[in-house]
Amino acid sequence: MISRRCLNMTSSDIRRMFNTSSRDTVNLAIGEPDFNTPEHIVEAAKRALEEGKTHYTPNQGIYELREEISNKVKLDYNLDINPEDIIVTCGASEGLMLALMSLVDRGDEVIVTDPAFLSYRNLIHLCEGRPVPVKLKEDFSLEVEKVEESITDKTKCIVINTPGNPTGKVMSKEEIKGLSDIAEDYNLIVISDEVYDKIIYKGKHYSPMRYTENCIVVNGFSKTYAMTGWRIGYLYVSETLNSRLNIIDHMIKIHQYSFACATSFAQYGALAALRGDQSCVDKMVEEFRRRKDLMVKGLKDVFKLYPPEGAFYIFPNTQEYGTGEEVVKTLMEKGVLTVPGTAFGEASTYYIRLSYATNYEYLERGIEIIRETLLGGIK
Ligand SMILES: Cc1ncc(COP(=O)(O)O)c(C=O)c1O
Repeated sequence: MISRRCLNMTSSDIRRMFNTSSRDTVNLAIGEPDFNTPEHIVEAAKRALEEGKTHYTPNQGIYELREEISNKVKLDYNLDINPEDIIVTCGASEGLMLALMSLVDRGDEVIVTDPAFLSYRNLIHLCEGRPVPVKLKEDFSLEVEKVEESITDKTKCIVINTPGNPTGKVMSKEEIKGLSDIAEDYNLIVISDEVYDKIIYKGKHYSPMRYTENCIVVNGFSKTYAMTGWRIGYLYVSETLNSRLNIIDHMIKIHQYSFACATSFAQYGALAALRGDQSCVDKMVEEFRRRKDLMVKGLKDVFKLYPPEGAFYIFPNTQEYGTGEEVVKTLMEKGVLTVPGTAFGEASTYYIRLSYATNYEYLERGIEIIRETLLGGIK
């Protein structure tokens, strides 16, 4: 009875870890900020509820919010994106789904990095497409030539994510430019997942939208404004791509019949997030940086690792102690939850992902347990 597209999808290892968490475990598995949503955003949503903004909104999202997103991308990245070329979605998750569903047919190939955020492969399966992994280098940089070598006449798009989950890597201008050139040369679409664009410690965020019109940018409010439960995000394309493919209308069809619109009062909260003072974001990023430094300091003599440049994950190599799966199991027995690298790609067998989006004291305890367990010789 069950469709092949469902059977081809796997359940999230991260959710599984989350579900096994008890009060005594140190959960370094889940990737969501532990901060509460800033007060002015909560107040704006409450006000929207009180004012009766509880109805369906336009499918594409309220105009004010799309206008504000357009202002943001102009201010941050000097991109001219029309509100008409933006869709407000139920989280970046829906944005990724709309992008892939509007492009990928059965048997089409989509290039993804290994490791990469696990939704990509599964959403590609949902579209009955075929994920084609390109292994990242040891320092998590992407070899653009390898991407080019993976292209066949079935390749439709390339999914990238910078800053990256699970690696914490910020892609360089050269990588982004190289990929954009490939997208132009082979007429492929780059789906650029930029949900961590504001959480950067080193380097700068470059979007392929700057270099190619063959691009769909997916972003959201979950990570930047600690709004994971609000389920609000957005995507945008260039005016040129939209006039060529009419892709926004196609994506709206999917959105309209599956979600109708993003939650009304969450959209007003998101509007307040963009219009309000951004110092709340700076504060959260500073705290993430402090935790990142703690993680690197506490783990660098335990594992081989590359210090994260963005997002809130660290992805150490576990080779010395066994596979990622084995290390996850050992640590779980000692009360620390992490995620095996294989959740993010088959080539990531000897890695684990640790999230530091949890409080400092927790992290200190987690590091202490990891050090005792692994350096103590228990394999
Ligand atoms: C790289 C990446 N993209 C997208 C998402 C989904 O974000 P949202 O909560 O906006 O759906 C996540 C969440 O973990 C993520 O890490």
